[in-house]
Amino acid sequence: MNILGLSAFFHESACCLLRGGRLVAAAEEERFSRVKHDPRLPAAAFRFCLRAGGIGITDLDAVAYYESPVRKLSRQLWAGIPEGASPDLGWLDPRAPERAIREGLGWDGPILTFDHHLSHAASSFLFSDFPEAALLTVDGVGEWATTTYGRGRGADVELFEQVDFPHSLGLLYATLTSYLGFEVNDGEYKVMGLAPYGEPRFLDEMRRLVSSGPEGQYRLNLDYFDFIRGRRMYSDALPRLFGEPPRKPEAEITRFHQDVARSLQAAVEEILLAKAGWLHERTGLPALCMAGGVALNVVANGRILREGPFERLFVQPAAGDSGACLGAAALAHVQLTGGRPEPLRHVYLGPRWSTAEIAGLLAAAGIAAEDFRDREAELLEAVVDRLAAGRVVGWFHGSLELGPRALGGRSLLADPRDPGMRDRLNHLVKKREAFRPFAPSVLAAHAAGHFDLDHPSPYMLETCRVTSPLDLPAVTHVDGSARPQTVDPLIAPRYAALLEAFRRRTGCPLLVNTSFNVRGEPIVASPVDALSCMGVSGIDTLVLEDFLIDRDRLPANWADLLPAWRERARSGFARGSSAISADLYTFV
Ligand SMILES: [Fe+2]
Repeated sequence: MNILGLSAFFHESACCLLRGGRLVAAAEEERFSRVKHDPRLPAAAFRFCLRAGGIGITDLDAVAYYESPVRKLSRQLWAGIPEGASPDLGWLDPRAPERAIREGLGWDGPILTFDHHLSHAASSFLFSDFPEAALLTVDGVGEWATTTYGRGRGADVELFEQVDFPHSLGLLYATLTSYLGFEVNDGEYKVMGLAPYGEPRFLDEMRRLVSSGPEGQYRLNLDYFDFIRGRRMYSDALPRLFGEPPRKPEAEITRFHQDVARSLQAAVEEILLAKAGWLHERTGLPALCMAGGVALNVVANGRILREGPFERLFVQPAAGDSGACLGAAALAHVQLTGGRPEPLRHVYLGPRWSTAEIAGLLAAAGIAAEDFRDREAELLEAVVDRLAAGRVVGWFHGSLELGPRALGGRSLLADPRDPGMRDRLNHLVKKREAFRPFAPSVLAAHAAGHFDLDHPSPYMLETCRVTSPLDLPAVTHVDGSARPQTVDPLIAPRYAALLEAFRRRTGCPLLVNTSFNVRGEPIVASPVDALSCMGVSGIDTLVLEDFLIDRDRLPANWADLLPAWRERARSGFARGSSAISADLYTFV
């Protein structure tokens, strides 16, 4: 049984392949198209999934789509057409997704469609290892639902309560993100990162914007919002309420903005905690599964687990719309087989490149690299040399991660003890806002010695207190928290071995781990993306599988040579590489 899950035409589009109940491939379209949050038909991700699964399109049993276009239309008609809505994305045409799948992908078999929040819920529960769990999904909006509550048992997923548009915690967060001068659907992380710098002195104002209702319900006060018609997110009443005009993008961030961010975060946490409490009472279950874009609010997740009634929490790592394709595929699998998919073991589900292919690329581009083939221990020592010397290392190994977090497949790594590292990474390497924190990777066996954390956190989806005897300024946020990734040697052996080598050398079993990209770009997917990223950022050393490239050993005019190398690499690499890489390569 081969089922292709697909989400598209709203936020980030993506595909996954469920083969015999096992998730064998998944990737966001943005990683191939290099358009951040690409919402278009995920043609490249679709082709990648088929090739990674070793199958052709005729081997598919079904395509599973992540939302109901007809129900979505009824909400769109109620709300009106947003200004700037692209006809390419199928606004007001409920047949557009099916047409795109048929004509754009060439699929003429069955298309099974599942509701947006059911897909979110299934993407979490059906891939968790809980036999039974309470379900909570929270996002901006699906068809009508913005928040749902339910219960999963075995292969069954049941939603029994929902909050409908326009009342939405996701849209509340997005509205304040816009008011604070950040981009909606992208800047929410920045608001969350800004919050710990402020005081919650606008909690009363936040409670005028959103009020908790009975059971699972809550309401927005629509006097303050204008997103229904899509002209902008907030009405004139919202700046009046806070007493300051909206912040212009890139304008200075003041105490006021920090305090609004903190107050918003506090208000959202307050409602989520209350609703999680109600859901626990209603279900009586010890485990909770979450998904939807708001489930990427790692600070709220940490509080739900620490202060809420649930003993265990699973958040689907690609909790936003890209990961909803996993849920649609899982629901189709249940419908067609009666069985439940296998639990998610990791998210290294995207494309990978062999050492031979990378050797071909480097030769084609004429790039001098140190060759560590069959010398992994020496490679790791060479990387540790550089990390311990304060260098920033681009780390490219194995399959690309699904979801917003780099987890040691496409990561930028650095020494977390270095007091200047955070500013250096933000300014010179990532080229992003100075206040944004970085997360650490830590060997799973050593996590409890450095964090207030008594369970694995493999996907960086919750924050916790730093309790380390080491001073870790690069990964400790202003409030003393961090968002660790615990690294298990059975899941990510080479990355764990690198952490172990760094621990042996320095006594510190942690590294800064931030995603391998610069501001405004998707995480790198291919070796050429990685080389290009090195060209426009301050990465000191690049590790492409078994090859190590030091910036200071590259020619002085390295950046000028880059376009030509890119072109030479493109043709040389494509000629000499396997079909899958060559094919993917055309999307770079
Ligand atoms: Fe969603």
